[in-house]
Amino acid sequence: MSDLDKQKQIAGEAAAKLVESGMTVGLGTGSTAVWFVKGLGARAAAEGMTLKCVATSKATAELAASVGLKVVDLDKAGTIDLTVDGADEIGPDLMLIKGGGAALLREKLVWEASLRCVVIADAAKAVKTLGRFPLPIEVVAFGHTTTAGRINDALHWCGIHAEAKLRVKDGSAVKTDGGNYIYDASCRNIPDPVLLAEALKSLTGVVEHGLFLGLADEALVGTDAGVERRRS
Ligand code: A5P
Repeated sequence: MSDLDKQKQIAGEAAAKLVESGMTVGLGTGSTAVWFVKGLGARAAAEGMTLKCVATSKATAELAASVGLKVVDLDKAGTIDLTVDGADEIGPDLMLIKGGGAALLREKLVWEASLRCVVIADAAKAVKTLGRFPLPIEVVAFGHTTTAGRINDALHWCGIHAEAKLRVKDGSAVKTDGGNYIYDASCRNIPDPVLLAEALKSLTGVVEHGLFLGLADEALVGTDAGVERRRS
């Protein structure tokens, strides 16, 4: 296992220890969240915990069920006590870029329904300024090229000279769990994440963007020396 994978594992497993029996728990998506879900499944089985879980993607729902966790729909969950999820970048004030795994819409819906959100990551995800990781933007399929043009205008207006590119895998456009497309914008540096988030959100055709601002309460970052806890 690589050092980064080990860091993801210890962060995910540390987060599993935050869960208490009786909680409704949001389960994130991605390779770090996998460690959390597996750790939580193991704890729940060993300790006979009663939990209700809400998954942020079909893949996570399948994993959760396979480790014995009870998964319910967001609409049936009520308030979520704690959500734990990965991130592609963790910037100042726990501002995040998410969506590398194309699950950003469901992730944001679950995060916003949660009383407490904990982000888990390896140490390489921590940055001084957001933007090194291409910003994922979820767009409705109808007229997506036209919407991409408007996204580029919004990026330029925010002082970012980047072109959003349709995410393609194995020769086909990637479709999200909601049936939408993802555009990735290689911003390199996002000088004002709040301004960009507002500009993108105002565009018809943009379903959601991967800037998670003011949502994370805490970060558990795996390092070679152990898990570092950061608060917003
Ligand atoms: C999924 O859409 C993402 O938001 C992931 O949470 C993010 O890409 C982090 O993934 P890893 O834990 O695999 O790095």
